[in-house]
Amino acid sequence: MKQVIETEWAADLISSWEHWLDMPRKVGDRMGLIIGSRPGEVAVHDNTTLNIFQGVHMALGLCPDRKVVVVAADEFPTDRYVVEGIAHDLGLSVRALTPDTDLSDVAVVVRSVIDYRTAEVCDVAACTAHAREQGALVLWDLSHTAGAIEFDVHALGVELAVGCTYKFLNGGPGAPAWAFVAEHLQSQIQQPIKGWFAQKDQFAMEKPFAPHDDIRRVLLGTPNMLSLVAAEEGIALSGRAGMPAIAKKGQALTKFGLGVIDHFGLTTSTPREATRRGCHLAVHHHNAAQLVTDLASQFKVIADVRPPDIVRLGLSPLTTRYTDVWDGLEKLSRLINQ
Ligand SMILES: Cc1ncc(COP(=O)(O)O)c(C=O)c1O
Repeated sequence: MKQVIETEWAADLISSWEHWLDMPRKVGDRMGLIIGSRPGEVAVHDNTTLNIFQGVHMALGLCPDRKVVVVAADEFPTDRYVVEGIAHDLGLSVRALTPDTDLSDVAVVVRSVIDYRTAEVCDVAACTAHAREQGALVLWDLSHTAGAIEFDVHALGVELAVGCTYKFLNGGPGAPAWAFVAEHLQSQIQQPIKGWFAQKDQFAMEKPFAPHDDIRRVLLGTPNMLSLVAAEEGIALSGRAGMPAIAKKGQALTKFGLGVIDHFGLTTSTPREATRRGCHLAVHHHNAAQLVTDLASQFKVIADVRPPDIVRLGLSPLTTRYTDVWDGLEKLSRLINQ
Protein backbone atom coordinates (compact mmCIF):
# COMPACT_ATOMS: atom_id res chain seq x y z
CA MET A 1 0.00 0.00 0.00
CA LYS A 2 2.91 2.32 0.81
CA GLN A 3 4.40 1.70 -2.62
CA VAL A 4 1.08 2.32 -4.35
CA ILE A 5 0.54 5.56 -2.42
CA GLU A 6 4.07 6.96 -2.53
CA THR A 7 5.24 5.82 -5.96
CA GLU A 8 2.42 4.66 -8.17
CA TRP A 9 0.03 7.41 -7.12
CA ALA A 10 2.24 10.26 -5.86
CA ALA A 11 4.70 10.08 -8.74
CA ASP A 12 2.97 8.32 -11.62
CA LEU A 13 -0.52 9.72 -11.07
CA ILE A 14 -3.22 8.53 -13.42
CA SER A 15 -0.73 6.82 -15.72
CA SER A 16 -0.75 4.04 -13.11
CA TRP A 17 -4.19 3.09 -14.37
CA GLU A 18 -2.41 1.44 -17.29
CA HIS A 19 -1.59 -1.48 -15.00
CA TRP A 20 -4.20 -0.86 -12.30
CA LEU A 21 -7.02 -1.51 -14.78
CA ASP A 22 -6.30 -5.20 -14.82
CA MET A 23 -5.76 -5.57 -11.07
CA PRO A 24 -9.18 -7.14 -10.27
CA ARG A 25 -8.27 -10.02 -12.57
CA LYS A 26 -4.59 -10.15 -11.58
CA VAL A 27 -5.49 -10.35 -7.88
CA GLY A 28 -8.18 -12.86 -8.82
CA ASP A 29 -5.53 -15.14 -10.30
CA ARG A 30 -3.90 -15.33 -6.87
CA MET A 31 -7.06 -17.06 -5.61
CA GLY A 32 -5.94 -20.16 -7.50
CA LEU A 33 -3.75 -21.22 -4.58
CA ILE A 34 -6.69 -20.74 -2.21
CA ILE A 35 -9.68 -22.27 -4.05
CA GLY A 36 -8.15 -24.16 -6.97
CA SER A 37 -9.46 -21.75 -9.64
CA ARG A 38 -7.57 -21.40 -12.92
CA PRO A 39 -6.07 -18.13 -14.16
CA GLY A 40 -8.84 -15.88 -15.47
CA GLU A 41 -11.65 -17.45 -13.42
CA VAL A 42 -11.79 -14.99 -10.50
CA ALA A 43 -12.24 -11.21 -10.32
CA VAL A 44 -11.69 -9.40 -7.02
CA HIS A 45 -14.10 -6.49 -6.80
CA ASP A 46 -16.73 -4.72 -4.70
CA ASN A 47 -18.29 -6.46 -1.72
CA THR A 48 -19.79 -9.90 -1.20
CA THR A 49 -23.36 -8.64 -1.19
CA LEU A 50 -22.95 -7.11 -4.63
CA ASN A 51 -21.24 -10.25 -5.91
CA ILE A 52 -24.15 -12.37 -4.63
CA PHE A 53 -26.58 -10.00 -6.37
CA GLN A 54 -24.66 -10.36 -9.62
CA GLY A 55 -24.25 -14.12 -9.20
CA VAL A 56 -27.98 -14.74 -8.69
CA HIS A 57 -28.78 -12.63 -11.77
CA MET A 58 -26.16 -14.48 -13.81
CA ALA A 59 -27.61 -17.84 -12.79
CA LEU A 60 -31.14 -16.66 -13.60
CA GLY A 61 -29.94 -15.59 -17.04
CA LEU A 62 -28.45 -19.06 -17.59
CA CYS A 63 -31.76 -20.76 -16.61
CA PRO A 64 -34.31 -18.36 -18.17
CA ASP A 65 -37.29 -20.74 -17.96
CA ARG A 66 -37.04 -21.25 -14.21
CA LYS A 67 -38.69 -18.88 -11.76
CA VAL A 68 -37.65 -20.23 -8.36
CA VAL A 69 -34.65 -19.33 -6.21
CA VAL A 70 -33.65 -21.42 -3.18
CA VAL A 71 -31.99 -20.28 0.02
CA ALA A 72 -32.03 -21.72 3.54
CA ALA A 73 -34.15 -19.96 6.16
CA ASP A 74 -31.07 -19.71 8.38
CA GLU A 75 -28.59 -18.69 5.66
CA PHE A 76 -26.38 -15.65 6.33
CA PRO A 77 -28.70 -12.60 6.31
CA THR A 78 -27.27 -10.72 3.32
CA ASP A 79 -27.61 -13.82 1.12
CA ARG A 80 -31.28 -14.13 2.08
CA TYR A 81 -31.98 -10.41 1.70
CA VAL A 82 -30.44 -10.34 -1.79
CA VAL A 83 -32.37 -13.43 -2.89
CA GLU A 84 -35.65 -12.11 -1.47
CA GLY A 85 -35.07 -8.68 -3.04
CA ILE A 86 -34.37 -10.09 -6.50
CA ALA A 87 -37.35 -12.44 -6.25
CA HIS A 88 -39.59 -9.55 -5.25
CA ASP A 89 -38.36 -7.31 -8.07
CA LEU A 90 -38.60 -10.00 -10.77
CA GLY A 91 -41.75 -11.75 -9.54
CA LEU A 92 -39.95 -15.02 -8.71
CA SER A 93 -40.61 -17.32 -5.78
CA VAL A 94 -38.21 -18.15 -2.99
CA ARG A 95 -38.16 -21.73 -1.70
CA ALA A 96 -36.51 -22.74 1.57
CA LEU A 97 -33.57 -25.11 1.33
CA THR A 98 -34.09 -28.38 3.20
CA PRO A 99 -32.59 -31.83 2.56
CA ASP A 100 -35.67 -32.68 0.43
CA THR A 101 -36.21 -29.44 -1.48
CA ASP A 102 -37.50 -30.06 -4.99
CA LEU A 103 -35.04 -28.42 -7.40
CA SER A 104 -36.65 -29.50 -10.66
CA ASP A 105 -38.00 -25.98 -11.38
CA VAL A 106 -35.23 -24.04 -9.58
CA ALA A 107 -32.80 -21.70 -11.33
CA VAL A 108 -30.29 -21.23 -8.52
CA VAL A 109 -29.56 -22.31 -4.96
CA VAL A 110 -27.59 -19.82 -2.84
CA ARG A 111 -25.68 -21.56 -0.09
CA SER A 112 -22.74 -21.05 2.28
CA VAL A 113 -20.12 -23.79 2.33
CA ILE A 114 -19.50 -23.21 6.04
CA ASP A 115 -22.26 -22.31 8.46
CA TYR A 116 -21.47 -18.86 9.86
CA ARG A 117 -22.67 -19.90 13.32
CA THR A 118 -21.59 -23.51 13.93
CA ALA A 119 -18.68 -23.78 11.40
CA GLU A 120 -20.24 -26.95 9.94
CA VAL A 121 -19.00 -27.68 6.40
CA CYS A 122 -21.63 -28.91 3.98
CA ASP A 123 -21.12 -31.58 1.32
CA VAL A 124 -20.37 -29.27 -1.60
CA ALA A 125 -19.76 -31.97 -4.21
CA ALA A 126 -22.98 -33.85 -3.42
CA CYS A 127 -25.11 -30.70 -3.23
CA THR A 128 -23.71 -29.29 -6.49
CA ALA A 129 -24.11 -32.59 -8.34
CA HIS A 130 -27.67 -33.02 -7.07
CA ALA A 131 -28.61 -29.49 -8.19
CA ARG A 132 -27.03 -29.97 -11.62
CA GLU A 133 -28.91 -33.27 -12.11
CA GLN A 134 -32.10 -31.29 -11.54
CA GLY A 135 -30.99 -28.51 -13.92
CA ALA A 136 -30.28 -25.92 -11.20
CA LEU A 137 -27.09 -23.96 -10.54
CA VAL A 138 -25.56 -23.36 -7.11
CA LEU A 139 -24.00 -20.05 -6.13
CA TRP A 140 -21.63 -20.92 -3.30
CA ASP A 141 -20.74 -18.37 -0.61
CA LEU A 142 -17.17 -19.08 0.52
CA SER A 143 -16.84 -16.16 2.93
CA HIS A 144 -15.97 -18.44 5.88
CA THR A 145 -14.21 -20.98 3.67
CA ALA A 146 -11.57 -19.36 1.48
CA GLY A 147 -8.36 -19.24 3.48
CA ALA A 148 -9.76 -21.43 6.26
CA ILE A 149 -10.02 -24.92 4.75
CA GLU A 150 -8.71 -26.65 1.64
CA PHE A 151 -11.12 -26.17 -1.24
CA ASP A 152 -10.96 -27.02 -4.94
CA VAL A 153 -13.70 -25.54 -7.08
CA HIS A 154 -13.00 -27.87 -10.01
CA ALA A 155 -12.70 -31.09 -8.00
CA LEU A 156 -16.02 -30.24 -6.32
CA GLY A 157 -17.86 -29.29 -9.52
CA VAL A 158 -18.41 -25.67 -8.43
CA GLU A 159 -19.34 -23.28 -11.26
CA LEU A 160 -20.27 -20.08 -9.42
CA ALA A 161 -18.86 -18.83 -6.11
CA VAL A 162 -18.27 -15.63 -4.18
CA GLY A 163 -16.51 -14.73 -0.96
CA CYS A 164 -14.85 -11.96 0.98
CA THR A 165 -11.14 -11.31 1.57
CA TYR A 166 -11.43 -9.60 4.92
CA LYS A 167 -11.91 -12.68 7.14
CA PHE A 168 -9.44 -15.53 6.55
CA LEU A 169 -7.64 -13.85 3.65
CA ASN A 170 -6.14 -11.02 5.70
CA GLY A 171 -7.36 -8.23 3.40
CA GLY A 172 -8.20 -5.82 6.20
CA PRO A 173 -11.24 -3.60 6.70
CA GLY A 174 -13.15 -2.90 3.51
CA ALA A 175 -11.05 -5.25 1.40
CA PRO A 176 -12.98 -6.28 -1.70
CA ALA A 177 -14.80 -9.54 -2.31
CA TRP A 178 -14.38 -11.87 -5.27
CA ALA A 179 -16.41 -13.78 -7.82
CA PHE A 180 -15.50 -17.12 -9.39
CA VAL A 181 -17.17 -18.02 -12.67
CA ALA A 182 -16.05 -21.29 -14.26
CA GLU A 183 -14.46 -20.59 -17.61
CA HIS A 184 -17.07 -22.48 -19.65
CA LEU A 185 -19.82 -20.14 -18.40
CA GLN A 186 -18.02 -16.83 -18.76
CA SER A 187 -19.00 -15.88 -22.31
CA GLN A 188 -22.68 -16.72 -21.60
CA ILE A 189 -23.20 -14.73 -18.42
CA GLN A 190 -25.19 -11.51 -18.35
CA GLN A 191 -24.92 -9.39 -15.29
CA PRO A 192 -27.50 -6.90 -14.09
CA ILE A 193 -25.36 -3.78 -13.77
CA LYS A 194 -23.69 -2.78 -16.99
CA GLY A 195 -20.55 -0.81 -16.22
CA TRP A 196 -17.66 0.40 -18.31
CA PHE A 197 -15.07 -1.88 -16.66
CA ALA A 198 -16.86 -4.84 -18.27
CA GLN A 199 -16.74 -3.18 -21.69
CA LYS A 200 -14.41 -4.77 -24.25
CA ASP A 201 -13.29 -1.46 -25.71
CA GLN A 202 -13.49 0.53 -22.51
CA PHE A 203 -12.06 3.80 -23.76
CA ALA A 204 -13.88 3.93 -27.09
CA MET A 205 -16.53 5.75 -25.07
CA GLU A 206 -19.38 6.11 -27.56
CA LYS A 207 -19.94 2.45 -28.45
CA PRO A 208 -22.95 0.46 -27.17
CA PHE A 209 -22.34 -1.99 -24.33
CA ALA A 210 -20.35 -5.01 -25.61
CA PRO A 211 -18.69 -6.77 -22.71
CA HIS A 212 -15.54 -8.89 -22.57
CA ASP A 213 -15.99 -12.63 -23.09
CA ASP A 214 -14.02 -13.40 -19.94
CA ILE A 215 -14.19 -12.83 -16.18
CA ARG A 216 -14.02 -9.07 -16.72
CA ARG A 217 -17.73 -9.34 -17.56
CA VAL A 218 -18.46 -9.17 -13.83
CA LEU A 219 -16.66 -5.84 -13.36
CA LEU A 220 -18.52 -2.59 -12.85
CA GLY A 221 -16.62 0.66 -12.27
CA THR A 222 -13.34 2.00 -10.92
CA PRO A 223 -11.83 -0.35 -8.33
CA ASN A 224 -10.85 0.91 -4.91
CA MET A 225 -7.12 0.50 -5.46
CA LEU A 226 -5.88 0.70 -1.88
CA SER A 227 -8.28 -1.98 -0.68
CA LEU A 228 -7.46 -4.07 -3.71
CA VAL A 229 -3.70 -4.02 -3.11
CA ALA A 230 -4.32 -4.84 0.56
CA ALA A 231 -6.37 -7.83 -0.60
CA GLU A 232 -3.63 -8.80 -3.03
CA GLU A 233 -1.06 -8.97 -0.25
CA GLY A 234 -3.49 -10.70 2.10
CA ILE A 235 -4.31 -13.41 -0.43
CA ALA A 236 -0.61 -13.75 -1.34
CA LEU A 237 0.25 -14.29 2.32
CA SER A 238 -2.11 -17.26 2.54
CA GLY A 239 -0.82 -18.49 -0.83
CA ARG A 240 2.75 -18.39 0.46
CA ALA A 241 1.92 -20.21 3.68
CA GLY A 242 -0.06 -22.71 1.60
CA MET A 243 -3.62 -23.93 2.20
CA PRO A 244 -2.57 -27.46 3.31
CA ALA A 245 -0.52 -26.00 6.18
CA ILE A 246 -3.14 -23.36 7.05
CA ALA A 247 -5.96 -25.92 7.04
CA LYS A 248 -3.91 -28.30 9.20
CA LYS A 249 -3.27 -25.58 11.77
CA GLY A 250 -6.98 -24.62 11.63
CA GLN A 251 -8.03 -28.19 12.38
CA ALA A 252 -5.51 -28.45 15.21
CA LEU A 253 -6.55 -25.10 16.72
CA THR A 254 -10.24 -25.97 16.64
CA LYS A 255 -9.55 -29.47 18.00
CA PHE A 256 -7.62 -27.91 20.85
CA GLY A 257 -10.46 -25.41 21.37
CA LEU A 258 -13.07 -28.18 21.49
CA GLY A 259 -10.93 -29.93 24.11
CA VAL A 260 -10.86 -26.74 26.20
CA ILE A 261 -14.63 -26.36 25.76
CA ASP A 262 -15.07 -29.91 27.13
CA HIS A 263 -12.58 -29.25 29.93
CA PHE A 264 -14.68 -26.31 31.16
CA GLY A 265 -18.00 -28.10 30.56
CA LEU A 266 -19.21 -25.59 27.94
CA THR A 267 -21.74 -26.43 25.20
CA THR A 268 -20.84 -26.32 21.52
CA SER A 269 -22.48 -27.16 18.18
CA THR A 270 -19.21 -27.06 16.21
CA PRO A 271 -18.64 -30.48 14.59
CA ARG A 272 -16.15 -32.83 16.26
CA GLU A 273 -15.00 -34.36 12.97
CA ALA A 274 -12.06 -32.25 11.77
CA THR A 275 -12.97 -32.25 8.07
CA ARG A 276 -16.55 -31.23 8.84
CA ARG A 277 -15.69 -27.91 10.50
CA GLY A 278 -14.21 -24.57 9.53
CA CYS A 279 -12.10 -22.29 11.71
CA HIS A 280 -14.53 -20.88 14.24
CA LEU A 281 -16.10 -22.25 17.40
CA ALA A 282 -19.68 -21.81 18.58
CA VAL A 283 -20.27 -21.82 22.33
CA HIS A 284 -23.94 -21.79 23.33
CA HIS A 285 -25.20 -19.87 26.34
CA HIS A 286 -28.53 -18.12 27.01
CA ASN A 287 -26.61 -14.99 28.00
CA ALA A 288 -24.42 -14.89 24.87
CA ALA A 289 -24.81 -11.17 24.13
CA GLN A 290 -23.77 -10.08 27.64
CA LEU A 291 -20.89 -12.56 27.64
CA VAL A 292 -19.49 -11.12 24.40
CA THR A 293 -19.72 -7.59 25.82
CA ASP A 294 -18.01 -8.64 29.07
CA LEU A 295 -15.28 -10.61 27.27
CA ALA A 296 -14.32 -7.46 25.39
CA SER A 297 -14.61 -4.95 28.22
CA GLN A 298 -13.04 -7.05 30.97
CA PHE A 299 -10.46 -9.13 29.07
CA LYS A 300 -10.05 -7.62 25.59
CA VAL A 301 -11.17 -10.94 24.13
CA ILE A 302 -13.08 -10.03 20.98
CA ALA A 303 -15.81 -12.52 20.06
CA ASP A 304 -19.09 -12.23 18.13
CA VAL A 305 -22.59 -12.86 19.30
CA ARG A 306 -24.77 -14.77 16.85
CA PRO A 307 -28.36 -14.77 18.10
CA PRO A 308 -30.06 -16.33 19.78
CA ASP A 309 -27.42 -17.93 21.96
CA ILE A 310 -24.00 -18.27 20.29
CA VAL A 311 -20.68 -16.82 21.38
CA ARG A 312 -18.58 -17.23 18.23
CA LEU A 313 -14.79 -17.32 18.42
CA GLY A 314 -12.87 -16.98 15.16
CA LEU A 315 -9.56 -18.82 15.07
CA SER A 316 -7.67 -17.52 12.08
CA PRO A 317 -4.85 -20.08 11.60
CA LEU A 318 -2.21 -17.61 10.44
CA THR A 319 -2.54 -15.33 13.44
CA THR A 320 -4.24 -17.20 16.29
CA ARG A 321 -2.03 -19.06 18.79
CA TYR A 322 -3.02 -22.05 20.92
CA THR A 323 -2.48 -19.91 23.98
CA ASP A 324 -5.01 -17.38 22.61
CA VAL A 325 -7.58 -20.16 22.30
CA TRP A 326 -6.96 -21.25 25.89
CA ASP A 327 -7.08 -17.67 27.18
CA GLY A 328 -10.29 -16.79 25.33
CA LEU A 329 -12.15 -19.90 26.45
CA GLU A 330 -10.82 -19.77 30.01
CA LYS A 331 -12.08 -16.16 30.34
CA LEU A 332 -15.43 -17.18 28.85
CA SER A 333 -15.79 -20.02 31.31
CA ARG A 334 -14.82 -17.70 34.17
CA LEU A 335 -17.60 -15.27 33.17
CA ILE A 336 -20.14 -18.09 32.86
CA ASN A 337 -19.30 -19.55 36.26
CA GLN A 338 -18.90 -16.35 38.28
C1 LIG B 1 -21.30 -15.79 4.81
C2 LIG B 1 -21.26 -14.33 4.51
N1 LIG B 1 -21.80 -13.89 3.37
C3 LIG B 1 -21.81 -12.57 3.06
C4 LIG B 1 -21.28 -11.63 3.93
C5 LIG B 1 -21.39 -10.17 3.58
O1 LIG B 1 -20.23 -9.66 3.08
P1 LIG B 1 -20.11 -8.15 2.57
O2 LIG B 1 -20.22 -7.28 3.77
O3 LIG B 1 -18.74 -8.12 1.93
O4 LIG B 1 -21.18 -7.87 1.58
C6 LIG B 1 -20.69 -12.05 5.13
C7 LIG B 1 -20.12 -11.07 6.06
O5 LIG B 1 -19.67 -11.33 7.13
C8 LIG B 1 -20.70 -13.43 5.42
O6 LIG B 1 -20.18 -13.88 6.57
